[in-house]
Amino acid sequence: MHEGSIWRQTAETKRYGRLTGNHEADIAIVGAGITGLTLAHELSRSGLRVVVLEAGTVGCGATGHSSCHLTTQIGFSYRNLAKKFGNDCAAKVADSRQRGIAYIEEKAQQGISCDFQRVPGYLYAEKAAKEEELVKEAEAAAQAGLAVTLEKKAVLPFAQAKSIRFENQAVFNSQSYLLGMARGLEATRCALYEKSRVVDIQEDGKRVITESGSVKVDKTVMATHLPPFLNLLQTLAAPYRSYVLGVTLKKNYPAHALYWDNEDPYHYTRLYEKSGRKWLIVGGSDHKTGHTPTEPDPFADLENYVYARYPVASVDFRWSAQFYEPADGLPYIGLSPFENLYVATGFSGDGLVYGTLAGMLLADRIQNRDNDWSEVYNARRITPRASGAHFVRENADVAKHLLWDRIRGARELEEIEPGQGAVVEVEGKRLAVSSEAEGDWAAISPICPHMGCVLQWNGSEKTWDCPCHGSRFHRKGELLEGPATSSLPDKTESVLKNLRNLAKTP
Ligand code: FES
Repeated sequence: MHEGSIWRQTAETKRYGRLTGNHEADIAIVGAGITGLTLAHELSRSGLRVVVLEAGTVGCGATGHSSCHLTTQIGFSYRNLAKKFGNDCAAKVADSRQRGIAYIEEKAQQGISCDFQRVPGYLYAEKAAKEEELVKEAEAAAQAGLAVTLEKKAVLPFAQAKSIRFENQAVFNSQSYLLGMARGLEATRCALYEKSRVVDIQEDGKRVITESGSVKVDKTVMATHLPPFLNLLQTLAAPYRSYVLGVTLKKNYPAHALYWDNEDPYHYTRLYEKSGRKWLIVGGSDHKTGHTPTEPDPFADLENYVYARYPVASVDFRWSAQFYEPADGLPYIGLSPFENLYVATGFSGDGLVYGTLAGMLLADRIQNRDNDWSEVYNARRITPRASGAHFVRENADVAKHLLWDRIRGARELEEIEPGQGAVVEVEGKRLAVSSEAEGDWAAISPICPHMGCVLQWNGSEKTWDCPCHGSRFHRKGELLEGPATSSLPDKTESVLKNLRNLAKTP
């Protein structure tokens, strides 16, 4: 089995250099995912000088690790949206998502080879008890302007109740798409840099500092999950992880379409064909970051789901991705509280389409053009009634991990079995210790360098994850995912020394 996304495995690769020295440009975009590269395209078309700064490599975040569903439907549901924000808002969200998909289609038609294909989408209820919910959602989606029909027959090869059929959805390979978008920038005034982590933003967004250089600009756009330097937004979006498998079946592949159920957490399914091979792509088992279940772990849980419903020949790929749930159900796209700093975050599990429309919307905002969607996604909005319960729940969780986790008792080193990790006290200091295999220890500080929450062990991916805002670290301390901007030093030697002392004790 390959540990990694099928999109990144099957797409071509091309590497870009690292930013060094001091530069000047009109706009800096932080993040080379679908939001950043869509925006870079739109700004470059106007002749602006753009610098894109990516901490890792193009598509290494959520874009390259999704399931590549392009849907007009939203996880929050049109019913909830209309109830909280009104029918006009729901119609604008439906319109923006249709135009987001059309944007990708247009790029594919212009020559970006990314396996783009229009397909229908089915939101189905596996249990009859959840049918009523579907009927109401079909009404709300139609009211928002989407072409939907209710279907009674099963759309997948196992028992289901009703489903809603959405017309004009799509699939593609996000990594091939991004590579094509990056190549398209080469003939413009846009410079793209990889391995260039942004460690500071100064002068209200007019100077961007990386580990090895800087760029002086007029405006900066944080096209990252959670902008590291904006504390208010960090209270309004909560991190979650989702898991995906690429599976070969013995027979009975479903038709090319998108499928997702209305369970919580939900499951999502599609097909992918490449070079004469065919895979069923199935995702789900979502959970809040830093709260990774152990029995069963999320990958095992997802495999159980797939084996119970399909004639599986082999599980060939598995990967995971992070997404952020916004407090009131809608993303934050637009100007941050700082005059020259723009953001795009809180896309839930619907990020490929939201990311694309965020790039379109931000290009308009930056160039002072009107955009119908600006108010809907306004990043400065405060919606106490719509955000209330979510805001209180998620921030109570942050407080718990900031305070309670710091004072509660640590476990003993001897209790850690191979494959496990825990916060233990070693010579009076707390360490996040893990054991990969017998004798293969690793230790780092358990305190997240972002805002000081206590890291939690993710046994499924062998990482230390921050439950507060979603930063993630390799077991030896390398930063895998922000908003933190620095790695943690390796403290393994303290553990080894302690074990040597224990061995000497008669
Ligand atoms: Fe914010 Fe860890 S990511 S405290």
